Amino acid sequence: MAPSDETAAAPALHRAAQAEAAARYRRVREASLAMTAHLSAEDQLAQSMPDASPTKWHLAHTTWFFETFLLIPRLADYRPFNPSFAYLFNSYYEALGPRQPRPQRGLLTRPSLDEVKAYRAHVDDGMARLLRQDAYGVADLLDLGLAHEEQHQELILMDILHLFSQSPLKPAYAPAPALPVGADPGPARPVDFAGGLVEIGHSGANFAFDNEGPRHKVYLQPYRLADRLVTNSEWLAFMADGGYARPELWLSEGWATVQAEGWNAPLYWQEAPSGWRAMTLQGLRAIAPHAPVTHISFYEADAYATWAGARLPTEAEWEHAARDLPARGNFLGSGQFGPAATPAGVSGLRQMFGDTWEWTRSAYGPYPGFHPADGAVGEYNGKFMIGQMVLRGGCCVTPQGHTRASYRNFFQPQQRWMFSGLRLAWDAVVRVEDDGSAFAADVRRGLSQGRKELPAKYFYDAEGSALFEAITDLPEYYPTRTEVALLRETAPAMAAHIPAGAALVEFGSGASTKTRILLDAAPRTGVYVPIDISRSALDAAAEAIGRDYPGLEVAPLVDDFTTALDLPGEVGERPRVGFFPGSTIGNFRPQEVVVFLSAAKHLLGEGAGFLVGIDLVKDAETLVAAYDDAQGVTAAFNLNLLARINRELEGDFDLSAFEHRAVWNAEESRMEMHLVSRSDQSVRAAGATFRFKTGETIHTENSYKFTVDGFAKLAEQAGWKLERRWESPAPSFAVVLLRA
Ligand code: SAH
Ligand code: AVI
Repeated sequence: MAPSDETAAAPALHRAAQAEAAARYRRVREASLAMTAHLSAEDQLAQSMPDASPTKWHLAHTTWFFETFLLIPRLADYRPFNPSFAYLFNSYYEALGPRQPRPQRGLLTRPSLDEVKAYRAHVDDGMARLLRQDAYGVADLLDLGLAHEEQHQELILMDILHLFSQSPLKPAYAPAPALPVGADPGPARPVDFAGGLVEIGHSGANFAFDNEGPRHKVYLQPYRLADRLVTNSEWLAFMADGGYARPELWLSEGWATVQAEGWNAPLYWQEAPSGWRAMTLQGLRAIAPHAPVTHISFYEADAYATWAGARLPTEAEWEHAARDLPARGNFLGSGQFGPAATPAGVSGLRQMFGDTWEWTRSAYGPYPGFHPADGAVGEYNGKFMIGQMVLRGGCCVTPQGHTRASYRNFFQPQQRWMFSGLRLAWDAVVRVEDDGSAFAADVRRGLSQGRKELPAKYFYDAEGSALFEAITDLPEYYPTRTEVALLRETAPAMAAHIPAGAALVEFGSGASTKTRILLDAAPRTGVYVPIDISRSALDAAAEAIGRDYPGLEVAPLVDDFTTALDLPGEVGERPRVGFFPGSTIGNFRPQEVVVFLSAAKHLLGEGAGFLVGIDLVKDAETLVAAYDDAQGVTAAFNLNLLARINRELEGDFDLSAFEHRAVWNAEESRMEMHLVSRSDQSVRAAGATFRFKTGETIHTENSYKFTVDGFAKLAEQAGWKLERRWESPAPSFAVVLLRA
């Protein structure tokens, strides 16, 4: 039967799959050619080192891959374009016979670039016919061939960069304006992971390379990952501190390499009177201080980590941390062709995908149960599992969509011509907030009740804290904006109640944004004690306040403020003033408010002042909108609780099987947030199984709305007197001063 007849006869579904496969094939193949638009024929012939290949060779080799593994075995009437190409463009497949040695690929002046393009067209034509005949039968090999070609797209640019770096003209691959310098991202912050018995490796129906499986269990000790990559300015500090000259920082092989190669900076860096510059795909450029460092070897990454009092993450730690993150970032499609400045003012893990591949401390080896495929294609990955280290994440010249959390890239420890960088990791000291056992117990208790509920304090892991900050910027979420305006207007009056040298103790300080308004009005405050359960938020805020208020002592406390607290020694005998903005006190039930205020009175002492922000009762429409915003940020904040259970307690919640609901409960005078099960389902988490009926909810938060008088009564029950009140215009919000 002629292929066109088959097409006509194929059911619609098959036709759609064929069309999709053919379109995907064309897209990838055209992208490879499009990348050569900036290159001359001479550029595409040259080879600058044994590890690299000419662009022309890459274009031919990826074509050879489709011809060898798909067309010759699968397309009956296919005629190879030129039999000698089997020798010229075989990369490393021993089963397919001898080949042009890699270091001599640059000697191939023939075939010409035009002939290679004709070869591509010939194979593309064959592939179009093959996909019309048998799109299903070749689906796996097609995926492999396209992923392979994408790997070579990345290699083309890395090899071109090396080639151009050898030229005294320092040409640019893609003329582009200088990348934005960006703002100083501040110190990297650790993000905590409880670890435990987790699974890594690819699973599911989507394409992955064979080396990403089988999925298997690994045990992780509690660990911490830096929230961002190491930057160029940090690398300069390492260099300035003698990083390349101190053997105690280096692994033995690394130190030998530094000596033998005379390394004193990353590859492509050169020192000029005006400072360090680096060869990039945009030509020779000044070092961008806030961009991630790149073109470093494993040895250098490891030495830097040692210098920084840290270590490199293992690949399992990296994958476990990345498993729920979208694989978005600065990839090839961004057109930047270099790592971008680190985003500043953001908390939580950043740059896990894109910018630079991240060296891990893991040797590249087979996962338990790994077997290479039979035949030549089994040589793709398995035979390289010796003497190389794993890199994770993807880089600025990785095609979008190519990489994923389970993706294992690998290079030899001395190689540095790829876009390689690093992220620091640490062993976690087990402390209260790292100890998953209380969380696990609360989850088991909360989800096995008739009315399921979870404590709202668990919203605030690093992701949750970042989402809360995003909520404060939403047009519908009036409380933050209103309270900030009120504080700005009344800060001088409030500050009159903060004695000089006092200790300001803040509960649930988060980003400590509102604190600044008080501190600006009370510049003689002696010590600031921010208390928060979210380590990531607290670390960032304490560091920023310390920097911006040099005269102030900052003594942060990571703790649950509903437990008995010990104030840090810095507080000493100073007068104490409490600060509890945000109406976070509204997240307690009335009886809990009384218990909390009693404990706070004990902590702050007789005679102390306590400034408390409370949200006031108002119309239901304003309230519901504030907790169910149009952009879905509050929904994401709510659902993050389930994601956190998945991350930390081996949960298998399907986030798409629950929906966010916000309701005004007028009788109780509170906003409620729930997660509603969309189906009958059962979920495993924290070592137990929980069943949900369709429509059943988990009650995740209360946000009580007060009247000032009603709140004063609760405060009185706890031994506080309301001394002053400040109220905003609508949407109404109040700050009260309580006196112990
Ligand atoms: N005060 C800030 C942040 C309010 S968000 C503002 O007004 O904008 C609530 C904060 O309280 C979060 O940072 C959260 O991590 C913290 N928090 C919630 N429950 C807590 C608990 N039980 N112990 C300590 N901190 C808690
Ligand atoms: C921190 N707390 C006062 C917020 C509130 O309004 O109850 C948390 C929040 N929940 C949803 N949006 C914001």
